[in-house]
Amino acid sequence: MNLVMIGTGYVGLTTGVGFATLGHKVACVDIDAGKIARLDMGEVPFYEPGVQEALKEVQAQGNILFTTDLKSVIGGAEVIMLAVGTPPKSTGEADLTVLFAVADQVGKLLEHEVVLVVKSTVPVGTNRAVLARVREAMTQAGREELTSLVQIVSVPEFLREGTALADFLHSDRIVIGADDGIAAQTIDLLHEGIHAPRVVTSIESAELIKYAANAFLATKISFINEMANLADRVGADVRDIAQGIGLDPRIGPHFLKAGIGYGGSCFPKDVSALEQLSGEHGYSFRLLPAVIEVNNRQRDLFYKHLVRELGGVKGRRIAIWGLAFKPDTDDVRESAAIDITQRLCAQGADIVAYDPKATENAKLLLADTVQFAPTAIDACAGAEALIVLTEWPEFREVSFSALKDRMIEPRIFDGRNHLADLHLSEYGFWYRGVGLGSYED
Ligand code: UDX
Repeated sequence: MNLVMIGTGYVGLTTGVGFATLGHKVACVDIDAGKIARLDMGEVPFYEPGVQEALKEVQAQGNILFTTDLKSVIGGAEVIMLAVGTPPKSTGEADLTVLFAVADQVGKLLEHEVVLVVKSTVPVGTNRAVLARVREAMTQAGREELTSLVQIVSVPEFLREGTALADFLHSDRIVIGADDGIAAQTIDLLHEGIHAPRVVTSIESAELIKYAANAFLATKISFINEMANLADRVGADVRDIAQGIGLDPRIGPHFLKAGIGYGGSCFPKDVSALEQLSGEHGYSFRLLPAVIEVNNRQRDLFYKHLVRELGGVKGRRIAIWGLAFKPDTDDVRESAAIDITQRLCAQGADIVAYDPKATENAKLLLADTVQFAPTAIDACAGAEALIVLTEWPEFREVSFSALKDRMIEPRIFDGRNHLADLHLSEYGFWYRGVGLGSYED
């Protein structure tokens, strides 16, 4: 099939490359000429495992092209996907300005039958609003008689950064929200080759499924974080609690890792947007404010504990491992690690940080307040404490005896319980995690 993908961010590019891998002809469109030029040369502008290699492959097969000119590719499109940003406004509500502008532009140019798909995460009602805008723009352009040929299908994405391409190719479900049976079939066919159950439903249900999935996962994280805080007070270990409940298939073992809370471009935005949406419909969704509050408090508690333990941070040399919002990504959006680092800097701490992939993005947010080290061990030279904020696998591989020699005080605060099972006290470290109940002194 011929697919036009508008927007080449994490979701648009990964999904575009994914469909090209399935054998479709994909034209990726973006207004950022610099980005399109880099992509055209096979260069992925962000770190997402597997995407770079897959891009080279589909380019060699001639299944993907990049352009800034929508007009030049729209004529052949059977499906047009909109994957532009919908960032949160200060109120928490999704900003749909760019999405609607793209819808107007598509409508201006469209002269044939097509299925539209909004890939961006959007509030209930947005797909219908996009379709209405596309049809309105077609009408304005004198093509009213063609408007019934355009349909919209809501196909939310569930891609995790770090495993996005694998999540696409091995999806656990494909949600297809449509009014029109033929349009739904087209989208089903587009996903041929992905062996996942289809959930065929209304547009509104599909839109809400996306928010429900992310809000539920965020709830799971806030729940286990509450348990962690309790575990600390009663001398229990939250990792064992997670295992003990996670083996019940009704609960499941995933998303039960306690720590400094969730971040990233999706969970914080989507939980707030769902709360906002509920309010707009006159419904008070009681759980969501608590999920958000617990998540925010998790950072506060961790920060307060470490300041108390260190007896203040002003002028103290502190090493930080990890700035990305989670491992295997260079993304620092809404990263709890960045937030905690900023708080430490604001209090005058002398920070040396290391992240395997996110340094460049972190520099934009931390500016000159932080020094960056080339390796994890280097970040710890002369440090009075090490704070682990993102659970990159390589942090477990360092030589802890060498690390101890580099630090002035062998003290580790682990915001992700990432090193909890390494028996660091045997190397002479003082170690504290989140919800581990008893601290190894
Ligand atoms: C999420 C959803 O998983 C994905 O389906 C959706 O489409 C986009 O949003 P992503 O933001 O890439 O994906 O990250 P995810 O792996 O879900 O982690 C989100 C946050 O939760 C991270 O900050 C992570 O550190 C945190 N987390 C996750 C925990 O604190 N504990 C856990 O047990 C799991």
